[in-house]
Amino acid sequence: MTGEQVLPAAEQTLAVTDGRIVGVGVTGPAHMTLDAQGRALLPGFIDCHTHTLWAGDRLGEHLMRLAGASYQDIARAGGGILSTVKAVREASEDELAASALPRLNTLLREGVTNVEIKSGYGLDTESELKMLRAIGRLGEISGIDIHPTFLGAHAIPAGEDADSYLDQVVNEMLPAVAEQGLAEAVDIYVENIAFGVEHMRVLFEKAASLGLGCRVHAEQFSDMGASEMAANMGAWSCDHLEHTAEAGAAAMGRAGTAAVLLPGAFYFLKETKKPPVELFREHQVPMALATDLNPGSSPVASLLTCIHMAPVFFGLTPNECLLGVTRHAARALGRSADLGTLEAGKLANFCLWDIADPRALTYQLGGLAPEAVYIRGQRHA
Ligand code: NIG
Ligand code: FE
Repeated sequence: MTGEQVLPAAEQTLAVTDGRIVGVGVTGPAHMTLDAQGRALLPGFIDCHTHTLWAGDRLGEHLMRLAGASYQDIARAGGGILSTVKAVREASEDELAASALPRLNTLLREGVTNVEIKSGYGLDTESELKMLRAIGRLGEISGIDIHPTFLGAHAIPAGEDADSYLDQVVNEMLPAVAEQGLAEAVDIYVENIAFGVEHMRVLFEKAASLGLGCRVHAEQFSDMGASEMAANMGAWSCDHLEHTAEAGAAAMGRAGTAAVLLPGAFYFLKETKKPPVELFREHQVPMALATDLNPGSSPVASLLTCIHMAPVFFGLTPNECLLGVTRHAARALGRSADLGTLEAGKLANFCLWDIADPRALTYQLGGLAPEAVYIRGQRHA
């Protein structure tokens, strides 16, 4: 795994036709040929786990945590995700899209060409569909490639119980989401303050029958066996994973499920338990890295900051970090055929960086930006 390179240094030219790469290291027949002229030519970075669309803020909770409260205490007291749900239900589709746009542009300026965005702050059919429509609209107005994920099973709404709410998610919301083509995957938060593994099984079975990918917030605060079951069910990714044990890592390795590590949430919640990176290496689990950009646990609109933190906090190598925001992030999105490397046939999402060694991107914190960002062959920044 550590031997894999993001891009061989010698490949300095790309041939692009109709938004796709048709040749690397060649000038071949193409509508556009790009010569990197000594600059580093890297795949566009992929932020494969975000909650970029929200309303309101959670500054008050941040202050409570600084004074000693925990993320789980605040959630159990009816704050946390549920306070963002209230704000999102009150916001219009236009307001939601407009407030997310500057966050997306911030990511773009750091060379992020693809962003996954989850719903999950609506928690009723109408509000979840509103979020997903706003997420779809963001793709049109920002020019960034957006990957929408349906996270109706993010929290249990006030006054409802987990079983009957999950039943609504699976039998009412998910069929509507699939029919309207509003998401590529489903996600669920398996945790002692949210849903259990049996809920996940029911959701994943239904999602698979509708042709959607499966992802899970797993083992952030405790090990409930979610990653093992998810991998055995063919999940694209398991995310967070601070408390994952060997059975989970082994199952992910066997299935080729990506482990999405989220150093922003680890940092902001002042966690001390680290994801088992050694086990992931041993079991050849593709490790991805993402911002988890959200108002509660990771108000971190910077993927470069995350690839800076991952070596320091989790012991990832710089090369693992670069793979984590390219090839392995594509896998977490179920899009390895289209994204993550610069190869003929893939989308022409790439950046030019004025750096001699791409590993330098994990060295300096702040002040780094690509010279040019291309999405589907079009220059965007
Ligand atoms: O990935 N853990 C659940 N979901 C988010 C937090 C969302 C929020 O607190 O608003 C996460 O950390
Ligand atoms: Fe998340």
